[in-house]
Amino acid sequence: MKRPVGVEALSIAVPRRYVDLEDLARARGVDPAKYTAGLGAREMAVADPGEDSVALAATAAARLLRTHSVDPSRLGMLVVGTETGVDHSKPVSSHVQGLLKLPRSMRVFDTQHACYGGTAGLMAAVEWIASGAAAGRSALVVCTDIARYGLNTAGEPTQGAGAVALLVSEQPDLLAVDVGLSGASSMDVYDFWRPLGRREAVVDGHYSIQCYLEALSGAYRGWRERALAHEVVRWGATLPGEQLARILYHVPFCKMARKAHTQLRLCDLEDAPNAPATSAEAREELAKSAASYEAQVASSLTLNARIGNVYTASLYLALAGLLHSEGAALAGRRMGLLSYGSGCAAEFYSGVVGAQAAARMARVDADAVLARRERISVEEYEHIMRLPYDALESLSPGADAFRLVELRDHKRRYAEGSAA
Ligand code: CAA
Repeated sequence: MKRPVGVEALSIAVPRRYVDLEDLARARGVDPAKYTAGLGAREMAVADPGEDSVALAATAAARLLRTHSVDPSRLGMLVVGTETGVDHSKPVSSHVQGLLKLPRSMRVFDTQHACYGGTAGLMAAVEWIASGAAAGRSALVVCTDIARYGLNTAGEPTQGAGAVALLVSEQPDLLAVDVGLSGASSMDVYDFWRPLGRREAVVDGHYSIQCYLEALSGAYRGWRERALAHEVVRWGATLPGEQLARILYHVPFCKMARKAHTQLRLCDLEDAPNAPATSAEAREELAKSAASYEAQVASSLTLNARIGNVYTASLYLALAGLLHSEGAALAGRRMGLLSYGSGCAAEFYSGVVGAQAAARMARVDADAVLARRERISVEEYEHIMRLPYDALESLSPGADAFRLVELRDHKRRYAEGSAA
């Protein structure tokens, strides 16, 4: 019998400051409803230069090991998924290994493909363990990013920052991944990119939404084909997508999850065998079902709405938010997960929530992590955004958080705050 493999535990890290999006809208002369209702966002994390992708990754990973009492000698692989690298050569993961004093006998590397990089790392870890090559060892996968578009741009309200660390093992207390069912779809497109040397992303915003939806369709149909063959879902009184208890999406902004869900339903409605002949307009109306969105998607977006886009970590923030609020009720239920990275690549996979999910999530204490943050004014946010990458504020690291404290000869030195 195949042993289950998946996510045993997770942990999150966010910058110490955030800006309220209604404040930002007013400062930009925009109707606040555009950001709150139109994009579905409430708050946006603001990272200062000391809170770089390494500091956020190390903070999330250290919290994971500490709160779940993980013995580092269990680990055989450390993967960091990020599109906010700090060096063209030295990976973020080697900083994390050093800061956490992890064993030398590990495979340590970064995975990069825009927001898909974290899922690429997770799949590498899951399949490494499922293949037997891990020989009982576990993997640490960290998704860390700073989403930055710049002041007064259309992308400005869709920024954010943070990290999610995932422990992957043969004891999937949070999520047992359906290994071998996932579907992938990729294309060579310029929808969002960040040229070498630039801190801000370049984005063709509306085109990027189209690319996301097209890649989602291919990835979902690939998963559905295999899930039907394995009788995980079936064509019947309900659509295959409706047979998943919840569906988590990559969340660049919360409204995108609604658009993605409509697209996934459209795939099922268009492909259903023996469906009554209906017009394309009627199918689109059915696909938009508010009831389906509320039942399958809405409850996963609480953390995303308060942190903003975290590129590689956005899907896993949705996982954290969902299991934080519904871990007990969802035990034993199957969920779908859609990862998207611009450029572009998408992967749709599924997994079953573990019986220990609620107990594991209680240790993450997501409410306390968010409650420790400080709300700043738009002026303070703009000041932070204008700081050069090496203008390190002389702040001491927050409770159980790492912080970049020195950059000399391009060598980075970090300090850790004492535990809360
Ligand atoms: N009240 C309520 N809603 C309002 C409103 C108001 N007063 N004014 C506008 N809206 C609605 C609009 O109708 C629209 O909703 P729909 O999409 O449902 O029609 C929504 O608010 C946004 O309005 P616009 O489309 O006019 O917004 P915009 O052109 O200024 O920018 C954006 C939107 C393109 C998403 C921009 O924020 C952007 O470029 N973001 C970065 C790119 C991005 O996130 N792309 C997502 C796919 S790529 C990806 O997922 C990878 C990644 O992480 C980057």
